[in-house]
Amino acid sequence: MFELRCIECDAKYSSSEIIYRCHCGGLLEVNLDLDLIEVTREKLRRRRFNLWRYREFMPVSKHAKIISLEEGGTPLYKADRISERIGIKELYVKNEGANPTGSFKDRGMTMGVTKALELGVNAVGCASTGNTSASLAAYSAKAGIKCYVLLPSGKIAMGKLAQAILHGAKVIGIRGNFDIAFKLIQQASRAFNIYLLNSINPWRLEGQKSEAYEIIDQLDFEPPDRVILPVGNCGNISAIWKGFKEFYETELIDEMPQMTGIQAEGASPVVTAVKSGKDKIEPIENPETIATAIRIGAPVNASKALKAIKESSGTAEAVSDEEIIDAQKLLARTIGVGVEPASASSIAGLKKLVESGEIDKSERVVCITTGNALKDPEAILSHYKKPVEIEPSIEELERIIRR
Ligand code: F0G
Repeated sequence: MFELRCIECDAKYSSSEIIYRCHCGGLLEVNLDLDLIEVTREKLRRRRFNLWRYREFMPVSKHAKIISLEEGGTPLYKADRISERIGIKELYVKNEGANPTGSFKDRGMTMGVTKALELGVNAVGCASTGNTSASLAAYSAKAGIKCYVLLPSGKIAMGKLAQAILHGAKVIGIRGNFDIAFKLIQQASRAFNIYLLNSINPWRLEGQKSEAYEIIDQLDFEPPDRVILPVGNCGNISAIWKGFKEFYETELIDEMPQMTGIQAEGASPVVTAVKSGKDKIEPIENPETIATAIRIGAPVNASKALKAIKESSGTAEAVSDEEIIDAQKLLARTIGVGVEPASASSIAGLKKLVESGEIDKSERVVCITTGNALKDPEAILSHYKKPVEIEPSIEELERIIRR
């Protein structure tokens, strides 16, 4: 019913094989037999609204023990005050920060950890800029298996680090950036039988494609013109594009949106490739940005992301740290949605692309905000006005209120 397929040479691998890359070096994706899927909009709608509403599209065996924290089912807000400011016809914000551990990674981990149990492994691991590790720590705790996480030391937002520790993962700081930690976990996974749950793992991406299904479902099966999201290791944009294609191929929708990826200026190899029309990225040696979640110089899924952008006639844009903080403020203070810096890049990118005329003002756009504000309180405390402190007297208080 499902197998792994190399996106480069089309080689096939059994779903019971533990493998992350094709022998030719290409990335793998899960191949579903879409002809066997019998769903209608009405049938889907009768079920509870979370990721498992779309169970037919999730490649798990009938008797699998599903490890779930009720992920998905996140809100899609109509953001009128932001669309007025930016000057775009219709804007929605899909708030992935509302997932159980506060990011979209939970969609990947319900699938990934369920698959780990199916494969009979007892240890999982990842390198992470923070959210992946927080999510994997929680899901492996629920599954009762060991979890190892490798983090770029001193570059992880406090909330994410605290979560990984809280859920009992073995947390290891690496003196180096994410790209270096990721190389190391790939070696460790082979050497110590640790099942790798970074987004190079194609099963994990199957969970994340549900973001596309939910957007369609929440918009009453009228696809938006464009979906904009932050891009780091390039797994999410690839997964979401696969989701749209599957809904299209099963005739649940008859149009697909343009995929638009946003990166931070100091970590934007995908944007450089898209703008220069290349189908390969040039890795960046020392990526830097306040959006630590997407501080990645050599994204492993870049070829999938470039395909998604090309196939959908989408685009990519880079935004500065300042533009990111401005967009974070805009989300928080006009529609009440608190997000971490990386997530705000989607709105910052929208603004920039509308201003440059690359996005037409008549478009219906969905921006995905990928992680919760509480993940990174330090970014807020160091970039926003600090609270004032006064003596407890009504006169002092009056002075502040009337200021
Ligand atoms: N937004 C947030 C909040 C993230 O944590 C990430 C990735 C992304 C966007 C980018 O998604 O990698 O699929 O392109 N965080 C990873 C991590 C790398 O380790 O938590 P992507």
